[in-house]
Amino acid sequence: MTLDDVDAVTDLDRRAFGESGWSRRYFVGELTESPISIFYVLTDSDRQLLGYFGTWHVVDQLQLCTFAVDPDAHGLGLGAILLNCVFRLAQRLGCESVQLEVRESNAAARGLYRSRAFSEDAVRRNLYSSPREDGILMSAPTPSTIETGFGRSAAERWPGGLDLAWDDRGGRAAEHWPAG
Ligand SMILES: CC(C)(COP(=O)(O)OP(=O)(O)OC[C@H]1O[C@@H](n2cnc3c(N)ncnc32)[C@H](O)[C@@H]1OP(=O)(O)O)[C@@H](O)C(=O)NCCC(=O)NCCS
Repeated sequence: MTLDDVDAVTDLDRRAFGESGWSRRYFVGELTESPISIFYVLTDSDRQLLGYFGTWHVVDQLQLCTFAVDPDAHGLGLGAILLNCVFRLAQRLGCESVQLEVRESNAAARGLYRSRAFSEDAVRRNLYSSPREDGILMSAPTPSTIETGFGRSAAERWPGGLDLAWDDRGGRAAEHWPAG
């Protein structure tokens, strides 16, 4: 994710999280002022935004602080692809584990995390507002082998693959998915 992506990301974030979504200014701050933040976007070959995630690199842990897929593209395997990218990033940074917090009622995200070996470690009472809700703290060890493939649904919808882009603090870096 670079500053060029922020308008589209803020729009998608609002559609994914409603009132509790992040403001444009918050994303800009993450990209420009936070040395621990590494944010990625997933786009099609026309640079249309399909999903994104944000992480904070804290010592030997990678914290997944935001993560969403375009609601029009749910259920096609993009969430799984993005989570595999999170694990690859954790591996590259030498992080032992990935941590996150999720709303108790978020069945789709909890299902995805559980299917990728995350455990539910603790409950944080009233962590979220608008609406007020408990948060579940989850974590997973960084796997040594990470899937780099495409699920069948994603391969059918995007036969040419997808692109991942991030800010390497020296400009826009990108790679194609499925990765080689
Ligand atoms: C959570 C989210 C990222 C999942 O993205 P997605 O692209 O629809 O997920 P995928 O198609 O990759 O699904 C991967 C796995 O997640 C689980 N999953 C996905 N949707 C699910 C649902 N509605 N209920 C239960 N499990 C679900 C399944 O295990 C699925 O594997 P399967 O297809 O083999 O059964 C998406 O729903 C989203 O953007 N939600 C709004 C934002 C959000 O909640 N972010 C997480 C904040 S912690």
